[in-house]
This record gives sequence, C-alpha cells and structure tokens, in this order.
Amino acid sequence: MEHNWIAILDFGSQYSQLIARRIREQHVYSELIRFDTAAEELKKRKPSGIVLSGGPSSVFDENAPHCDPALFELGVPVLGICYGMQLTCKLMGGTVKPGQEREYGHANIDVADNSSIFTGLPSELKVWMSHGDQIEKMPDGFKTLASTGTCPVAAMVNEERRVINLQFHPEVVHTPRGTDMLRHFLFETCGCTADWEMAQFIRESVKSIREMVGTDHVICGLSGGVDSSVVAALLQRAIGKQLHCIFVDNGVCRYGEARQVEETFGKALGVDLKVVDASDRFLSQLEGVIDPEVKRKTIGKIFIDVFSDEARKLGEAKYLAQGTLYPDVIESFSPIGGPSDTIKTHHNVGGLPKDLKFELIEPLRELFKDEVRALGRELGLADYVIDRQPFPGPGLAVRIIGEVTPERVAVLQQADLRIQEEMEKLPNYKQIWQSFGVLLPIQTVGVMGDSRTYENVIALRVVESLDAMTADWSHVPYETLAKISTRVINEVRGVNRVCYDISSKPPATIEWE
Ligand code: XMP
Repeated sequence: MEHNWIAILDFGSQYSQLIARRIREQHVYSELIRFDTAAEELKKRKPSGIVLSGGPSSVFDENAPHCDPALFELGVPVLGICYGMQLTCKLMGGTVKPGQEREYGHANIDVADNSSIFTGLPSELKVWMSHGDQIEKMPDGFKTLASTGTCPVAAMVNEERRVINLQFHPEVVHTPRGTDMLRHFLFETCGCTADWEMAQFIRESVKSIREMVGTDHVICGLSGGVDSSVVAALLQRAIGKQLHCIFVDNGVCRYGEARQVEETFGKALGVDLKVVDASDRFLSQLEGVIDPEVKRKTIGKIFIDVFSDEARKLGEAKYLAQGTLYPDVIESFSPIGGPSDTIKTHHNVGGLPKDLKFELIEPLRELFKDEVRALGRELGLADYVIDRQPFPGPGLAVRIIGEVTPERVAVLQQADLRIQEEMEKLPNYKQIWQSFGVLLPIQTVGVMGDSRTYENVIALRVVESLDAMTADWSHVPYETLAKISTRVINEVRGVNRVCYDISSKPPATIEWE
C-alpha cells in the first residue's frame, strides 16, 4: 500500500490500536509501525499522514523512545497525541516541563481558536486527558488552539508545516467529538480519500499472494473457526488449486463439524480439501485420561503428528498459511521492552517437525477480528461460519469432565446441538461470547414415565465477554433456559438433568477444565 494511508508510530500507548481502528473506520487504511522507523523508510512508503501515538514514557526518561526527527522534514502532516505531542515539541525546538502531578480522566478544554482540527466544533469540549508533562514553550511557528485550567497548551498547531498536537486522546469514546477531529486531520489536513474497504483489501491481497507464491503450493490447516476459514477462502481466490487444506477430525468436534467444513469449503468453494478422520486415534489415546492438561497435551501432540503426515503426503508445499491477526502482531514491537524484531517469515511453525520447513503466509496480519469477519462476508462465507463462537482446540474433550469416551462424546454432541439451536434464536445471540454444555461425570436420579432413571447431568454455560479475560454469566431468558432443558432432557438419551452455571470469570473460568 503506497498511497492514501496513515502511518501510526507506536510509542506504546494502550490506545495505539484504537487509533488505527478509528482511522480505518473512516475508510482510510492505517498501520501501526515501529516508533523508530527511519524517515527514509517512511518516505518510500509515502504515507498521507503520520500519527505519533501516546505512550507510558516521559520525554525526560533516560531511554525515552524517540522517532527519527527527519520525519518532520518529509512535508507529510503529523498528528502528535499526548506523548507524541511532547516529543514533537522537544524535537522541534520547544520546551517541555515535568508535570507536578499526572492528570488522568475527563477534562473540559476551552477552544481558543476554532481553526484546524477544531473547525466547526463548539468552544468548550469534553476530552479524555492523560498526561504528566506539559508544554512550557511551543516550538517556533506554533499557536495554541485550546487549553484547560491546568494545561495552558492542550492543543497546538503549526499550520504551515501541518503539524498538529493534542494533549488529550481523540481516539477514545470519552472524547465525544474526537472522531470529528480525526476526520479533519484525515480529509482536510492530509487530503485522504475514504477508499479503504474490504473489496480493495481483497484485490491487493490476492495480487500480493500471487506474486509471493508464484507456482508453489500452500498448505492450510482448517479448524472450522473464523480465522482459518477466512484465510482459506482468501487463498482459494488467489491461488485456487495451489491451495491444499487439511481438516483433522479429532473425534471431539461439534456434531457434524467435518461435514460442514466439507460442504463449505470442498463443495461450495471448490477448495482442495482433505478431511482426515483421525477420531479413533485421538479417542484411543484419550482412554483413561482424566487430567485436563494431559488431555490438552495428548490432543495437541496427535494433531501435530497427523497434520505433519498429511503435509508430507502432499509433497512439495513451500508455504503454510496461518490466521495470525493484527493484535497478535502488534505485541511484537512494543517499545517498552525495547524494539524487538520478532516478525520472522522463515521458521518452523507451532511445533511441526524440523524436516517440515515452511515459509509462513499470514494474509490477515493487518486486520482486526471484526475486519476479518467483514472480509469473510465479502468473500461470500456463510454467516454461520463468520459469526461462530470461539471453540477450544481440544474441543469437547475439555467439556467432558473425567474420561472422554465415544459414548460420552456422542451425548455431549447431541446436547450441544440443541443448546446452539435454541441460543441462536435469541435476538442478542451475537452478544453471547460462548454458549455450550458440559457433561458431568455423575449420575443423578430422575423419573421418566413410570420408571426411575439414573443418568447424566449437563451443565449449561453461557457467558458474555469482550476478550475472554473476564466473563459474566449471561442472563439468558427463562423461556430459553426452559426450552434448552426440556429439549436436552427429552431428546438426548442419557441426560436427565440440566443445571445453569452462574459463575463469573474470575474466579471461575469459562471452560470447566
Ligand atoms: P478459560 O476457560 O480459560 O477460557 O476461561 C478462555 C477462552 O479460551 C478458550 N480456551 C481454549 N482455546 N485451547 C484453545 O484453543 C484451549 O486449550 C483452550 N482452553 C480454553 C475458551 O473457550 C475461552 O474462549
């Protein structure tokens, strides 16, 4: 991408990703890059504008991260936010003074000058502040745009050089007019056009994947989840028959999973797909295993063995495709631990044996999760693939407490199927992070017709969460709980009781194992 994009130099703010998102929401491509990227390098990539993010450092710190001062000479507009402001001030010849105390949170700014980024905005604005240091003397050519009672220069601009600085964060929701400010920077100051859309991403990715792969072949492990599905669909569009997908049925998938993958990818998309039914191998090795971590390790190891065998059978594939997303990539160059170049393209991947040397293709590495979903839709993948809930790699094995047997898997698959069918009817289904059943290793007494039963318990787990780090049990309507309970008990042989899990994470976890 060499035009109409915004480079965000990342100084480690917790909001850096959010800046990228906010800009992309305006249909302008943006990318976080290392804070110490050379101005020469930037010049080659021709950004329309540069944002210097905030960060935890103070410009007075001994090892304060600096950008290349020459970037101010490129003639490209610069927006400095918080730390980015103070750094700009220092590098352009102004002075910064250490703050007496750090100021965080809501603040009102008085806009003294409604030009530049404040065009069309009221003279008093709510903003989100977070700073320690302050501008003492602006560099030559700057004028103050806004201030607060404790911060005389809350925003400043050098109109001629098109350098704008904000002491507050326009990217967070607590700055209600922040989007207007960013839009002004993008469309007025930088002259961007709103052309970032998935169709364009697809065209550019297809082109670069074709150039990279040439006549070689690519292997892609399909898990049935969103990321690997979207990777496969994109690669299929780019290289067709040079793509070879492998789906490993580990015997602890959801009901009908292998068939669904076959239909979506093999039949509908015409992908060269190998479905490997290794369920016997997995289930026999899981015999007698009770410890959850041993279950995980057993499944992980067999998966690698099976996948490697199939990859070898396919012969000469040079590349392995993976669904690495943007948030996974960004963590690799945080300035706090010093710049580390962890983005490699040539290595052994995820525990695969040494003789299988692949180069990685990661076509989603610039995207956020919701963008991956939008991409999947644009590629024509069905909603049920795109809106899937996360599903753990060890599958139902960690939802069967105690030993995993084929019979128990079958009971849980049937219960899970009914739980999903009922949950999907809820209007707020997309707000649910995960909903599933857990098969408990105990029997309880029940009565069916005139007979006594002595059968299994299913625990129903439904949680809402943003990132799986914390989660709340969902207040699912009683009607839905009743329907799930009735259906599971009546329709699934071997279950006579359903309980609802009302524990939050922490202290509980989402999965039971
Ligand atoms: P917990 O149970 O730790 O789960 O609250 C957090 C999130 O991670 C998923 N999870 C896993 N995913 N392999 C995976 O690929 C695993 O072993 C695993 N264990 C938990 C879980 O479904 C939830 O979304």
